[in-house]
Amino acid sequence: MTGHQPAHQPPQRVGVVAESLPGETRVAATPSTVRLLLGLGYEVVVESGAGAASGFGDEAYSEAGASIGEAWTADVVLKVDAPTDEEISALRAGTTLAALIAPAQRPELLEALAARGVTVLALDAVPRISRAQSMDVLSSMANIAGYRAVIEAAHVFGRFFTGQVTAAGKVPPAKVLVAGAGVAGLAAIGAASSLGAIVRATDPRPEVADQVRSLGGEYLAVDAAQEESTDGYARATSADYDRAAAELYHEQARDVDVVVTTALIPGRPAPRLLTAADVAAMKPGSVVVDMAAAQGGNVEGTVAGRSVVTDNGVTLIGYTDLASRLPTQASQLFGTNLVNLLRLLTPGKDGRLVVDFDDVVQRAVTVVRAGTVTWPPPPVSVSAAPPATAPAAATAAPVGARPSRLTPAGRYCLIGLGMLAAFLTVAFAPAQLAENFTVFALAVVIGYYVIGKVHHSLHTPLMSVTNAISGIVVIGALLQIGHESALVTVLSFVAILLTSVNIFGGFAVTRRMLSMFSRGESR
Ligand code: NAI
Repeated sequence: MTGHQPAHQPPQRVGVVAESLPGETRVAATPSTVRLLLGLGYEVVVESGAGAASGFGDEAYSEAGASIGEAWTADVVLKVDAPTDEEISALRAGTTLAALIAPAQRPELLEALAARGVTVLALDAVPRISRAQSMDVLSSMANIAGYRAVIEAAHVFGRFFTGQVTAAGKVPPAKVLVAGAGVAGLAAIGAASSLGAIVRATDPRPEVADQVRSLGGEYLAVDAAQEESTDGYARATSADYDRAAAELYHEQARDVDVVVTTALIPGRPAPRLLTAADVAAMKPGSVVVDMAAAQGGNVEGTVAGRSVVTDNGVTLIGYTDLASRLPTQASQLFGTNLVNLLRLLTPGKDGRLVVDFDDVVQRAVTVVRAGTVTWPPPPVSVSAAPPATAPAAATAAPVGARPSRLTPAGRYCLIGLGMLAAFLTVAFAPAQLAENFTVFALAVVIGYYVIGKVHHSLHTPLMSVTNAISGIVVIGALLQIGHESALVTVLSFVAILLTSVNIFGGFAVTRRMLSMFSRGESR
């Protein structure tokens, strides 16, 4: 299973098994992700009824090219939840299992799987680095769950989220507080603000403030020192922070109608954010969704897996299956994350799975390798922290980014040389060239400052649209293509060719990006 395999070996079989956890509605592959698995060279077998709760019947899998049958004996077993003891005994030695494992919380499960001689890919151990985003099952599920948390709250809340002025009177908008602006929190902010609510959010990581605002929320800063994150997750909050935050929650609890809590620090019980006194201060009819209920809860009084109503009429929702409440969507994203992982593990696209421990992502997800527990992996540091201080900026530099090697003296030398070149050009070149050169130099300076002021996340659409400036080059080249000199004609042709690629490519990229944000049929 692990290590390089000779090319002539037959493709491995991927088995998609049915889930056994009560209330689990997801499945690890959908008909469309089965097609992608086949494209990687695997054979796919789906256990009968595996996709039923997600709305995918056996026929849909068969049409996609899978066979329906015994999936536990496959070479690679795909599953959503960790296997039970009985399911572990159904695995063959040498099998690779991919599922949510919670390796930090369940060492005994790792031992049981290792004893079975299998290789285990823990989907919840995908590191939070840009390169692994497409495989990050936890983020996909948290995104769905954050959205669903707001829908659950809206379902219970007895009023509109949006404000309205009607003939029958004025309706104020609901006020929603989101505590913890990670993946689930941001999804909740987006969902609540698109329903028209006034949304506020708080998080110990100040770098999320812009993201909160971009989704229509107001960021509530807690005025206390807090350690920076280097791995995409928060550090434990300081006592100072907790004190200041407790005041903020107490104040907000009286004012808001809905609270969604998502606070999590990996490997720790959920931080307690709202006390029973805070909940008692809330208005009757208010709703709290505690997304961390499974980890002990952010809110005093939440019951994991249930919805309870307090004496003062506040509904506390502690559902732990929020993603499973949107099973079709959840399975699709889960399945796609899995395909992306298998794509990484199938470099030959030959249906042979290869685990490369030199790759940081593969190392991190492999928690058992051929019967040996390989958890925990060496720590992975990513560029999640803001470059607040010089040393932090150095550790947080994105992979591949190199510090400027130019010393101040070197910089002045370069500027001096540039000025000399400009002087010589203006002094000795023909008047027309000097004029063109001046326009060019000014355009460079203006372009530099204009583009420098655009937020980096908007650079791609900006660049793709401004590539249309290539149109000017095309016009110049068209005027020159009939020139008597063959060299000028060839250069004009090349210019037309390259700039056309640039123009059409630019518009194609822009169109693709814009379609990601459009809601209509233009997709
Ligand atoms: P995340 O790590 O992306 O976000 C957690 C956020 O909480 C971070 O932004 C962190 O800075 C913040 N945080 C940490 N300590 C805090 C504190 N004291 N006060 C305020 N914010 C604090 O995690 P993600 O993926 O968004 O998940 C959030 C929670 O939702 C987790 O507990 C996760 O287990 C849970 N979840 C629940 C589901 C359900 O069905 N109930 C489904 C999916 C996720």
